[in-house]
Amino acid sequence: MFRKFAALVVLAAGVCSTVRCQTQPVDAEGHQWWQHAVFYEIYPRSFMDSNNDGIGDLNGIASKLDYLKSLGVDAIWLTPCYPSPQVDFGYDVSDYENIDPMYGTLADFDRLQQEAKKRGMRIIMDFVMNHSSDQHPWFIDSRSSRTSAKRDWYMWHDGKDSAEPNNWVSTFGGSAWTLDFKTGQYFYHYFYPQQPDLNWRNPAVKDAMFDVTRWWYKRGVAGFRLDAVDTLFEDRQLRNNPVLSGLNKFGDPNETDLYNTKLPEVHDVLRDLRKVADEHNAVLIGETWTKDVSELKQYYGDHSDELQMPMDFLFTKVDKVSPAEFRRQIAAVDSAGGWPVFVVSNHDIVRSYVRYGDARNNQAIAKLMASLYLTLRGTPIMYYGEEIGMQNTDPVRKEDVKDPIGRLGWPLEKGRDGERTPMQWDDSPNAGFTRGTPWLPVSPSYRTVNVSNELNDPASILNVYRNLLQLRHQSRALLDGDYVALNENDPNVLSYLRRYKDEAVLVVLNMSSNPQDVSFDLAPQGFPTKSARTLLTTAPASKESSLSHLLLQPFAVYIGTVSK
Ligand code: NOJ
Ligand code: CA
Repeated sequence: MFRKFAALVVLAAGVCSTVRCQTQPVDAEGHQWWQHAVFYEIYPRSFMDSNNDGIGDLNGIASKLDYLKSLGVDAIWLTPCYPSPQVDFGYDVSDYENIDPMYGTLADFDRLQQEAKKRGMRIIMDFVMNHSSDQHPWFIDSRSSRTSAKRDWYMWHDGKDSAEPNNWVSTFGGSAWTLDFKTGQYFYHYFYPQQPDLNWRNPAVKDAMFDVTRWWYKRGVAGFRLDAVDTLFEDRQLRNNPVLSGLNKFGDPNETDLYNTKLPEVHDVLRDLRKVADEHNAVLIGETWTKDVSELKQYYGDHSDELQMPMDFLFTKVDKVSPAEFRRQIAAVDSAGGWPVFVVSNHDIVRSYVRYGDARNNQAIAKLMASLYLTLRGTPIMYYGEEIGMQNTDPVRKEDVKDPIGRLGWPLEKGRDGERTPMQWDDSPNAGFTRGTPWLPVSPSYRTVNVSNELNDPASILNVYRNLLQLRHQSRALLDGDYVALNENDPNVLSYLRRYKDEAVLVVLNMSSNPQDVSFDLAPQGFPTKSARTLLTTAPASKESSLSHLLLQPFAVYIGTVSK
């Protein structure tokens, strides 16, 4: 039986003394709060501007907490809002323990946090661990002389044969080494030269960075999204990376990042960072660019003692909705042993509305994809604007590009501005985001694609998200049930059961542009029933649906409940 489920919300956010308080289950299955939570990523520059300077801010976010609560969000991940020269729009941090004035103050942060807590929502910060800004006092000190007390906090090396120490290229273009003329040595940066890599082999760096997390835990944050976690360590011998054929979008040689990413030492740091997180009932989410599930598995840790939530980006690699491909990926992630994390878009990736869309059925496909990843076993991380079907709005002229990689790589690489445009709240000028000049142009789609409009349309993408999240919070089967693939040879329709004790939710997703008539025999799964009770559908609705003939229009969704 599908029944209302009152989640036992443990709002013990804050400090759990020095005792490990890793296990504060919220249900009989021993699940933790982050396993029942829906996460929502906010790019603060683009969410809501409270002071009309054209840049979103913390007070703007606070003004939208009721919207997020009613959407069904439980935890907000804020991308960096620390003081920063903004070369990489906040991913170049010059002070880890403050808020950049363009986003507000620490008092604004505390208020946001308290207001979120009042509504039963948590705040997760972005932890930019691999590098600081070159304007961080640590780096300013480090580069001041070869004998600086902070010299060894970064990666300084002599050149080789009057050139860079080795062939490593920055993922943001050019060599990963920059010569500092004053001291005659090179410093290493996996990203921009303004983002020098910290030296994680230095225990003082580790202590200082771990203290940063303690400082925010004491302020009440419920965890961190760990930026670029693959890149923390580099080969001690600085061996050259293998060179592949061809050039990348920046004109640099293609390389395998063999000696500067995913080194085993990363896992030692994660294990220790997890111990600190556990003292605070906090979650660690990793930006883990794993190529397959075996790599993903490593980030959970051999004893589930590293990241609770390494992000699985494999869904973002699927361009066209495909039952076979999703089936394969879901089964693989499900078998990894950890708690799955599903992501379909973020501030570095072309928006899912465009990526999965076929240009004719994008609305239906957006609802279909939401119905997929919000009903799987695991935690979803949404990206702002996804819930209204925001599309990418890429710059059309190089001179309009804000993201430096877009200027460097133009026209092959247009940068990430397109997926970072302001949130579309209503159809007033600038979509209600600001009364000033927005830092990035608002997508012209805002006249129809906006929160206010979609709230009034029962069939909108927004209302599908709201209904899905409501179901998810109320259904034991969706929260705790296992995943059982159905009709595995069907090339057009992806179907599965989420099964918990005597109840199960049936999810049926037509991933084709043709109508499909499907049937199910659920007796082998313990449900010898002939019909399902409809919970949510984008097909014509009826309360009961026959399991021998379930008719689905192109890209339609059917979600129903079955019982024994
Ligand atoms: C990953 C972040 O998501 C991206 O936006 C940033 O540019 C790099 N890490 C560098 O911090
Ligand atoms: Ca502002």
